[in-house]
Amino acid sequence: MTLEELEKGKAESLAEIAAAADAAAVERLRVKYVGRNGSIPALIKGMKDVPKEERPAFGKAVQAWRAEVEAALAAKVAAPAAGGSSATLDPTLPGRWFEPGAEHPLSRVIAETARIFGHLGFTVADGPDIETRFNNFTALNTPPHHPSQDRRDTFWLETPEFEGGEGTPEDLLLRTQTSPVQIRTMLQNKPPVRVICPGRTYRRDTTDATHSANFHQIEGLYVDSKPVSLADLKSVLAYFAREMMGDSVTVRFRPHFFPFTEPSVEVDFSCHVCKGKGCAVCKQSGWIEVAGAGMVDPRVFRFVGWNPDEVSGYAFGFGVERIAMIKYGIPDIRWLYENDVRFLEQIA
Ligand code: PHE
Repeated sequence: MTLEELEKGKAESLAEIAAAADAAAVERLRVKYVGRNGSIPALIKGMKDVPKEERPAFGKAVQAWRAEVEAALAAKVAAPAAGGSSATLDPTLPGRWFEPGAEHPLSRVIAETARIFGHLGFTVADGPDIETRFNNFTALNTPPHHPSQDRRDTFWLETPEFEGGEGTPEDLLLRTQTSPVQIRTMLQNKPPVRVICPGRTYRRDTTDATHSANFHQIEGLYVDSKPVSLADLKSVLAYFAREMMGDSVTVRFRPHFFPFTEPSVEVDFSCHVCKGKGCAVCKQSGWIEVAGAGMVDPRVFRFVGWNPDEVSGYAFGFGVERIAMIKYGIPDIRWLYENDVRFLEQIA
């Protein structure tokens, strides 16, 4: 090889290195030119065949070539071409941070509720979001003229004879409560039943800080052929309150009305923040309303073909958002649906 050819080879090699698109290409060129069997070491081995007087100049040129190739390869590794990647790992680069995932507050409340009632022998039952008029209203002793059946309150999917009439039991709607799962459970089982039913519910509410057209409830139902009393209901809800909100929380019942329970109550928890003394969270009352409940109405038993003289039971239903908001101090229900990680991180 003449010096001229050598210079040409060098120019070619540097151009190839400059054009290398990725780390693998850089490595291939390293092997080709300066690897153990590369072309530059081969030239060095062949030095003995170069005429003696040319050897110093030739040797110097080969060494210069080698140095330039190595410098070009190193530069390529440090600053890879666009789309390329570093051939070696740079231990001084900052590590990649993976955010650990966390359970959404609503999922946490549901899981926690299932755990607490699981201790009491309750299992989790499920039902569809799309319900029939029979399951959501009729069998729950809610007559057609009841305001909750109104088109202004309920999302009806089909309104065949509804305009002006009573419709049929099969008319479909987005369930307004999880109580229809009570009906499904009783139609499919024999007493005793002991279930909780978490799920989505829908009402034609305008969204604001405390309302959402789509929210979540957890229903509870206990029916037995042994006598079941309001005191049983109260003790179970008191246990739930302490487990969910803290040891000092107590429960109070206020008389209320639901078509499917008799007697019916609204359930308050003593305020877990001020311990009942009165604060901004409980609006100075010392109590926070959390659930509706009562003893299953005999008419509901008749709708599912159970004899009210042979069975008795209680039911309750509470809003998951409501529990999450008071437990975690969330002032606006919309925060639960916006999926802003800055908010979710604080709760996790
Ligand atoms: N379904 C009722 C509601 O949405 C709550 C409730 C459930 C009341 C069970 C009594 C018994 O308001």
